[in-house]
Amino acid sequence: MPLKGRVFSGMRPTGRLHLGNYLGALQNWVELQKDYQCIYCAVDVHALTTMKPQEKAELKPNIREMVIDWLAAGVDPQQSIVFVQSHVPEVMVLNTLLSMITPLGWLLRVPTFKEKVRQMEETEETVSYGLVGYPVLMTADIILYKADTVPVGEDQLPHLELAREIVRRFNFWYGETFPEPQGKLTEAPLILGLDGKQKMSKSLDNHVELAASPDETRKRTLTAFTDPQRLRRSDPGRPWVCNVYTLHKYFNPAGAQVVYDECTTARRGCVDCKGHLAQAVNTYLAPFRECRREYEANPSLVDAVLADGAHRAAAIARETIREVKERMGLL
Ligand code: AMP
Ligand code: TRP
Repeated sequence: MPLKGRVFSGMRPTGRLHLGNYLGALQNWVELQKDYQCIYCAVDVHALTTMKPQEKAELKPNIREMVIDWLAAGVDPQQSIVFVQSHVPEVMVLNTLLSMITPLGWLLRVPTFKEKVRQMEETEETVSYGLVGYPVLMTADIILYKADTVPVGEDQLPHLELAREIVRRFNFWYGETFPEPQGKLTEAPLILGLDGKQKMSKSLDNHVELAASPDETRKRTLTAFTDPQRLRRSDPGRPWVCNVYTLHKYFNPAGAQVVYDECTTARRGCVDCKGHLAQAVNTYLAPFRECRREYEANPSLVDAVLADGAHRAAAIARETIREVKERMGLL
């Protein structure tokens, strides 16, 4: 069957991934390999936009942990290109060139930018130029490989909207060169954390790592919030507002109806329900965790994947840069 197009996606290397990353993005990365030429990137330069200098020693181990998660989840480096952003420096050339056609106003209006500035306790005066330009670098990532499909979680959609605007402007000014990249969501584009309120995220410490031990998975899952109106064991629950039920649907699809029925009729308590979920997550992730251990024991395998990935990515990147320079009058 002919391929449907080209996929590009990236994640910032913040270490081991959690259930939200898996359900929101990684699952799709694996799935799309069947129909697309896929390129997956550990975006280390993007990580620098919010990193403190004293954290620099963590960057390389974080890349390794994250890439091991990708491979163990089923990203196949024989088929897909897996590489580290800074290993193909052409992206920084494209970033600079795109920054010449991107109005500052577009960047200042991106909702994630305002939110990051607030989170980092900065102002628009003190915040780095790199953070303002985050979506331009992200656009460069995608279009350097002329990707048309970008599997991400819901939180990334405003960035892709901007990427399309930059592409439209480039194509209009310099001639049709790039496809407009479209986001591709999973059925679970936003997974809530154990607090049941905010999105699952490492920085909020409301997450369960894919690589956690079965025991750790159980301990953390037991802290999850359920239906806040269910105060007594004898009260019927409302699974439709309960994050634990949502996770049952993904990790225990065959048993989810029983969970629903028993919860709404108060035949199951929340503690049992959470223990049951932990068990389902542990069963679901057992092959992943086994495979992960093999990569952990063979670090040179990961290095080889990344070296090969950079080599293959660079061949495409060089060609695009040549074309862009020509279109912009530099060659
Ligand atoms: P991050 O670690 O925030 O850079 O996220 C990596 C990928 O996982 C991105 O495509 C995000 O959109 C996705 N993602 C992160 N957290 C969640 C979540 N709680 N639910 C769904 N998707 C998520
Ligand atoms: N901004 C994305 C995130 O925080 C990471 C990213 C960088 C990305 N470049 C990309 C995602 C290109 C998709 C395509 O998760």
